[in-house]
Amino acid sequence: MIVEHLSGVTFGSVVTGVNLEELDEQTWYELHDLWVDRALLIFPEAWITPEGQDNFARRFGDLEFPRTAISNIGKEGILHHENNDDVVKVLRGNEGWHHDSTYMPTQAKGAVFSAEVVTESGGATGWADMRAAFDALEEGIRSRVSAMNAYHSYYYSQGRDGYLPNEQNDDGTYNYYGFHDHAVSLRPLVKSHPDTGRDNLIIGRHAHNIVGMDPAESEKFLDELNVFACQGSRVYHHDWSPGDVVVWDNRRLMHQATPYDMTEPRRMWHTRIAGDPLTETAINHL
Ligand SMILES: [Fe+2]
Repeated sequence: MIVEHLSGVTFGSVVTGVNLEELDEQTWYELHDLWVDRALLIFPEAWITPEGQDNFARRFGDLEFPRTAISNIGKEGILHHENNDDVVKVLRGNEGWHHDSTYMPTQAKGAVFSAEVVTESGGATGWADMRAAFDALEEGIRSRVSAMNAYHSYYYSQGRDGYLPNEQNDDGTYNYYGFHDHAVSLRPLVKSHPDTGRDNLIIGRHAHNIVGMDPAESEKFLDELNVFACQGSRVYHHDWSPGDVVVWDNRRLMHQATPYDMTEPRRMWHTRIAGDPLTETAINHL
């Protein structure tokens, strides 16, 4: 196993010389320790099989959902590319910085993500280190945010960005993942990582309405916090080659999609690792 840390950023490593589908226990423990330490592992052109991807993800924990296409390729190869298309709205929504599934009762632990078909240009995926962001806050703000809780909702994030689906049920709900009818998840802005004990900001596009704060003031505060958090040495963008595989820690990192020409086909595969209910459940779902 050859490990090369990303340069100029506070997290992330490129790992080669390892077969993700035939890990012996010793290598798995080394890889897991590295993941906890670096939060993002990139395996260039590892070409993991469909079953291999889910099996690899299961080593980290139960699955929130198995390998799922994140793609503009529709039925019979038709490409979703119009702004008003519901598939496009989901994909474009992903361009805002976020942790996965903070709008669910239990937020995700992480994800295994692989590239099958990529476009000529664009479509990089970015990650941002919310542990380093917390550490970089001025002490006064750090103690303020440590006492704050905010709601996380996919209705909020997609609605604010103009990406709510066209297809709506009679009761005003939607059938896409994340538009659930549980109570809106309430989460602390700062959360201790269960494996490292270090504090991390839990923010991003789904977070809104800090408890006890005027809604407009809360929106401004969170916007500024997101901008501060996602910059400089805390951000890395990966340009994909077909076959690349990554695994990230959703408890520490936010991520974002970036635009690409949607008249070109692109297909990525996402396996979502479920968060441990003991540590990743929203305050109001405990
Ligand atoms: Fe995501």
